[in-house]
This record gives sequence, structure tokens and C-alpha cells, in this order.
Amino acid sequence: MPNNEIPASAMSSLAPSATDLLRIKQLEEQTSALRKSVICAFNHLLDLKDLNTGVHSTRLAEWGMRVGHELGLEEAQLQNLEVAALLHDIGKVGIPDSILLKPERLGAEEYALMKKHSEYGWAVLRMLPGFERAALDILHHHESFDGKGYPAGLKKNEIPVVSRIVCVIDAFDAMVSSRPYRKGLPYQEAVRRLNVGSGTQFDPTVVQSFLSFAKSEMSVVFAAAPGTSLSSAL
Ligand SMILES: [Fe+2]
Repeated sequence: MPNNEIPASAMSSLAPSATDLLRIKQLEEQTSALRKSVICAFNHLLDLKDLNTGVHSTRLAEWGMRVGHELGLEEAQLQNLEVAALLHDIGKVGIPDSILLKPERLGAEEYALMKKHSEYGWAVLRMLPGFERAALDILHHHESFDGKGYPAGLKKNEIPVVSRIVCVIDAFDAMVSSRPYRKGLPYQEAVRRLNVGSGTQFDPTVVQSFLSFAKSEMSVVFAAAPGTSLSSAL
């Protein structure tokens, strides 16, 4: 037998026992539970800053997963997509309320600070084991397909696919949602704007995938969103 081969007797002792397998399963369950708790805790933080509604983030996660499945993303990418959809704006916690809640148009300096939120989100999430990739996806959720976005000016496939998906669904959700200071756009106008931005701001493949089911989602969106009228939106 060559020197580098492990004897069969030793191999059997290396095979995991039932106890080992049970322990591995328990550790996997603990890791998964911890992951869910972290997401939940950050969502609460967004709620405290009034940056979030449960409905908004859950909706983005559902839309994102639908697009992700259709584009053939792998399981690990889908898990990151869920995190990125839920927590993409976590960095806004670091933006002053005077800017965050300002109803008027932001000045140049204010806008420059606002744009920092994607870097802030990345800086926080990257420190959590298991969230490093989702942190990168969050870092790039305001890149533009033509390279004119931020923070890195990435374009096309340089932009992580998860970031491209979050960019489209977040933009659409922002367009149709009502805010205290403005009414959400009608569905058809939001679709028109997505199509106008397709290939420049947005990844055309993602836009096409999202629009294939968007209309069927609208009744759910407006039924769940106080202040937004389904009849006026459609
Ligand atoms: Fe954002």
C-alpha cells in the first residue's frame, strides 16, 4: 500500500458517529437560529429609526426571492438575497434625522452624506460571521447598470447580481409607496419608469423578471400599505 493511503481500519474510525451527526445537526440549527435572530434584531433597529415597516421589508424579500429563483440563483445566493432585501438600508441608522426625514430636496452635501448609507451598512454587517457576502451585496445596492451609481461606479455584471435585484425591487417599491409628504405613484407610471431606466439604471433581465409578476402583487401591496389606494395606484 502506498504511504499516502489511509488504512481501511483507520478510515472507519474517522467516519462520523451517530452522536457526531446529531451534534452537527444541532450546530447547524443553532447557526440558522442565530442568523434569523440577527436579521430580526436589525429589523427592530430599523423600526426604531422609523426606517422600515415590516410589510415593506417582507415584501422586498418575497419579490427578491421570486426574481432570484427565476434567474437561477444558487441557494447560498438566495440566502444572501433575503438578507440584502431585508437589511439593504441598515446603514441609514448612521444618517442624521435632519437629512433622513427632510421632505424637501437634499442639498449637495446632504445628498453626499445620504449616499454613505450603503457603506455604513456594509461596515456593520461585514463584521458578523456569515453575513460578509450579504454585506457586499448591500454595499452595491445603489450601483447603476451603466456605471453611474455609487459607491464604486461598477457596471453591468461587475455589480453583484443580488445588488442588481435589490436595486430594482427597492426602486419600484419606493415609487409605489406613499410617504407622509407624498403619494405613491400609480402602478402604470412606476412600470413606465422602470422600463425607462432598464439598461441604464437597472439590469434589464431583472426588470423583465420582476415585471412578469409585479402586477399580480399590487393588490397585496396596496391592501397592506396604509395611505395608498389600490384603485388610484392601478
Ligand atoms: Fe438604499
